[in-house]
Amino acid sequence: MFRIVHKEKLSPGINLFEIEAPRVARHAKPGQFVVLRLHEKGERIPLTIADSDAGGGTITIVVQEVGKTTYELGTYENGDSILDLLGPLGRPSHIDNFGTVVMVGGGVGVAEIYPVAKAMKEAGNHVISILGFRTKKLVFWEDKLAEVSDEVIVTTNDGSYGIEGFTTHALAKLFDEGRKIDLVHAVGPVVMMKAVAELTRPHGVRTVASLNSIMVDGTGMCGACRVTVGGEIKFACVDGPEFDAHLVDWDELVKRLNYYRDLELISLEKWKR
Ligand code: FAD
Ligand code: FES
Repeated sequence: MFRIVHKEKLSPGINLFEIEAPRVARHAKPGQFVVLRLHEKGERIPLTIADSDAGGGTITIVVQEVGKTTYELGTYENGDSILDLLGPLGRPSHIDNFGTVVMVGGGVGVAEIYPVAKAMKEAGNHVISILGFRTKKLVFWEDKLAEVSDEVIVTTNDGSYGIEGFTTHALAKLFDEGRKIDLVHAVGPVVMMKAVAELTRPHGVRTVASLNSIMVDGTGMCGACRVTVGGEIKFACVDGPEFDAHLVDWDELVKRLNYYRDLELISLEKWKR
């Protein structure tokens, strides 16, 4: 069993959980994730390791409530335990001294870019973090990202905080200003990652995206997380989750993510009752 030692509401619908998982914490690297199952009847879901404390033996996950399992996890409190937690899974991010790295996080993706931004900064990069939210009350971790970035830009769709618009507007502005950018790393909704890829493509800037395909076992055996990258079939759990964003078949990813939509809604409604 994996005990929750700290729970915090970061914004409406987004919770942070610090969980005792000493072996995972010891081996976790930026870009990796865990697959967890709340209880015996629970579904397995993948979540990024947003932070880890090898000494303290804990990992931190930040979870957005979108369906049955994530809503159910939202009811867990300090001292509650999670039945299974497998990890660290996936290939770690490629960290190097690239020069100027722009980290783009959308919504809960802001938590997911944190460990990568931190490692990129430690590797000597100039790190610019662009954090996108729908509105001001959903903003979280601006301060935490500021600790590991040279520049932080916040965007809100409705203009209630920071720059009005999407993360791509802020990124486009950097290109318009003639800023030298060596790598863009994006994590967030598929529509955002696709838009970032289309924006950087004509500039020839290497762009990495962390794909949130549906995963079940997380170890390359079930095929649920199949994605097409550069015309080749890849399993996001073992070949990724990070891939060259210019080569990803985004439309296929969207289709596969919506494949079980009706069943997921039924499952959520049943659980709410
Ligand atoms: P459901 O109602 O079952 O599904 C809602 C939507 O979530 C679906 O339409 C589908 O698009 C997606 N989804 C459903 N089941 C899965 C599954 N088993 N695997 C992946 N996606 C699924 N979310 C976070 O909030 N924080 C994170 O740090 C985070 N990291 C992720 C890392 C990876 C590598 C991947 C692949 C996904 C990550 N996600 C993260 C997404 C998270 O796994 C889904 O939101 C969650 O599985 C939804 O489950 P649910 O039962 O609450 O919702
Ligand atoms: Fe089963 Fe990737 S989740 S193969």
